[in-house]
Amino acid sequence: MLFDMRELSLIKRYKILNSTITPRPIAWITTVSEDGTRNAAPYSFFNAVGDEPPMVVLGLLKDPATGGMKNTASNIAATGEFVVNLVCEADAEKMNMTSIDGPADLDELEYANIETLPSTAVTPERIASSPVSFECRSLEMLEIGPRQTIVIGEILVTHIKDEFILDPDKVYLDTPAMKLIGRVHGSGWYARGTDLFKMDRPKPLPKD
Ligand SMILES: Cc1cc2nc3c(=O)[nH]c(=O)nc-3n(C[C@H](O)[C@H](O)[C@H](O)COP(=O)(O)O)c2cc1C
Repeated sequence: MLFDMRELSLIKRYKILNSTITPRPIAWITTVSEDGTRNAAPYSFFNAVGDEPPMVVLGLLKDPATGGMKNTASNIAATGEFVVNLVCEADAEKMNMTSIDGPADLDELEYANIETLPSTAVTPERIASSPVSFECRSLEMLEIGPRQTIVIGEILVTHIKDEFILDPDKVYLDTPAMKLIGRVHGSGWYARGTDLFKMDRPKPLPKD
C-alpha cells in the first residue's frame, strides 16, 4: 500500500514514522532555562550524524497544546547548551516521568528525583545514573515546517561510566552491559539491545 505523505493528516504521518523507523535511541536531554530552572525530557527523534566535529541531531516538535516550543527547545535556543544522556533499562521509569508536559518553571530533575553530576564544558548537569552523557553546544537550530525545530549539536565532552570501559586506549566499550533502551512502534513500547547477530562487511572493490 502506498501512503502519500503529502496528503496524510499529521497524526497518520506521525504514526508511520513512529512505527517504522525503529528502534530509535533515546536522548534524555538536560537543559537549563535562562533563569536557571533545570529541565529533563526524552527525545527519540535523535541520532549521531557525524564525527568531524562529532555531531548529534535532535527533532524537537512543537508543544501541541500551545503551538510554541517545548521547554527543551526554548532552553537550547536561549543558552545554546544541552546534555544528551543515554537511557539504560534501570532508568526507564524516571525517563518516562520526565516526559510529563509540565510548566517551564518545574525542575524536572527534582520532580523525578534524579541525581545529577556537574558537567565540565556546559552549564546543564548530566544524569548521574546514565551510562553515557554527551555535553553539547548547539551549532544550528532550524525551524523546518510549522511544527518542528531541528537542533544540530556538537559533542564537546563525553562521559562514559568506568564500568563500561574495557580498554581506554583502544576505546573498547562494553556496550551490551550498558543495557541501553530504544523506542519502538506505537505508544509506550521500548526495546532492549539484546537478540543481536553479527555480519562482516564486504571487502572494498577496486575503484580505478
Ligand atoms: C521515549 C520518548 C521519546 C520522545 N521523543 C520525542 C521527540 O523525539 N520529539 C518530541 O518533540 N517529543 C518527544 N517526546 C515527548 C516529550 O518528551 C514531551 O513532549 C516532553 O513533555 C517535552 O518536555 P520539555 O517541554 O520539558 O522539553 C518523547 C517522549 C518519550 C516518552
